[in-house]
Amino acid sequence: MSNQNPNDPLFQPLNMGGLTLPNRVLMSPLTRSRSSQPGDIPNDMNARYYQQRASAGLILSEATQISPQGKGYAFTPGIHSQDQIDGWKKVTDAVHSAGGRIHMQLWHVGRISHPELQPDGNQPVAPSAIKPEGAKTFISADSGMVDVPEPRALETHEMAGIVEQYRQGALNAQKAGFDGVEVHAANGYLLDQFLKSGSNHRTDEYGGSLENRLRLPLMVIQAVIDVWGKDKVGVRIGPTGSFNAMHDDNPIETFGAFAKHLNDLGIAYLEVVEDSFQGNHANGRPEEVIAAIRTVYKGTYIANGAYTAEEARRRISEGRCDLVTFGRPFIANPDLPERFRENAPLNEWDDSTFYGGGEHGYTDYPTLEELETNA
Ligand code: PHB
Repeated sequence: MSNQNPNDPLFQPLNMGGLTLPNRVLMSPLTRSRSSQPGDIPNDMNARYYQQRASAGLILSEATQISPQGKGYAFTPGIHSQDQIDGWKKVTDAVHSAGGRIHMQLWHVGRISHPELQPDGNQPVAPSAIKPEGAKTFISADSGMVDVPEPRALETHEMAGIVEQYRQGALNAQKAGFDGVEVHAANGYLLDQFLKSGSNHRTDEYGGSLENRLRLPLMVIQAVIDVWGKDKVGVRIGPTGSFNAMHDDNPIETFGAFAKHLNDLGIAYLEVVEDSFQGNHANGRPEEVIAAIRTVYKGTYIANGAYTAEEARRRISEGRCDLVTFGRPFIANPDLPERFRENAPLNEWDDSTFYGGGEHGYTDYPTLEELETNA
C-alpha cells in the first residue's frame, strides 16, 4: 500500500520561468570538490552523481567559479575554460536524459581564497582589505584547512571586469546546456562581501551607503539577466549568516532593499539561506528578516534552512515559501523526493566524504529500490 497523499504540498507542480517543476523538493548547491585535475573540470563521475539526483524538482549545481580569480578551494569546478564547458555539458546531458532540470550556481569567492589558488600567486580580492577572522580554505589534498589571508581591496576601475567575469560565466553556462543560473550572493563570498556592512568599508560608489553596497551585486545580476533573460536567473542570499566571518549592521534594511530591487527586476526566484551555512547564524533575528524580505519580494521564494520534510510541508502550506532546497539529505539520498513522498526512512550522511575523494560517499548511496533489491 502506498503512503502517498495527492494533496502533499511537496508534490504540487510549479511553473517557474517556463520550466515545470514536478515537485517542491530541490537540491541545494553543494560543494563536493571532485572535479578532475588539472583544470577543475567536471567529469563522468560528477555527471553520474547529478543524474542520480535528477528527480529533484530542480538541481542547483555546486558553486562554480566563473574565473580563475573567483576560485577559493582546491578541486571545485570552474566554468571559464572550454574543457570545463565540455565537462558540464556531460552533466547537463546526463540530468536531462534522466528527465531532470539543472541551474548552474555562478560563484566568485572574493576574499575567501589564498594566493596558492590565485593566478600568479596574487592576493585574493574583496571590497575592502579586511581579513575574515577565522575563515579557512584548503589549497591542496594534503594542506588541511588553512587560514584565509588579508585580501586586496578592488580598485574602482576593476568593477567592470568583475561584471564581465559573471557575464562570461553566464554565457558559458548557456553553452554547457544548463536550464538557467543562480547568482551566489550568500555565505560570505564576493557579492555578500559587497552587500554586508562588516566587509564593505569602501568610500567610492560601491560602498558606504546602502545603495552603494547594493550597486555591484545589482550590476552583476543585470549582466546575467542580459545573457539569460530574467526568468532564467535566480539569486541566493544569506541575510543573517555569519559563516566566513560575515556581519551586517542592519540585515532587515539591507536585505529588504536588495529583495525589493530583485522583485522589480522580475527574476525567476530568490533563494534565501534562512539559517546559515551549517546553521551558524548570528546577526539579527532570522524570522524578522525573512518577513521583511517576504513583504517586498513577490516572486517565487525558495527556502533553505536544514528543514525536515514535515517542516517544509508546513512552511509551504503557510505560504512562507514556494519551494525548499535540501542539502545534506540529498547527498545521502539520491531519490530524496521519492522517500519524502513515501515517508520512507532516509540514509544517513557521512560528513567525512563531503569534500574531495571519489565515488565513495558520492555516487554509492543506495536508492530505496536498491535497498529493497539487496535486502
Ligand atoms: C564551501 O566550499 O565550503 C562552501 C561553498 C559554498 C557555500 C558554502 C560553503 O555557499
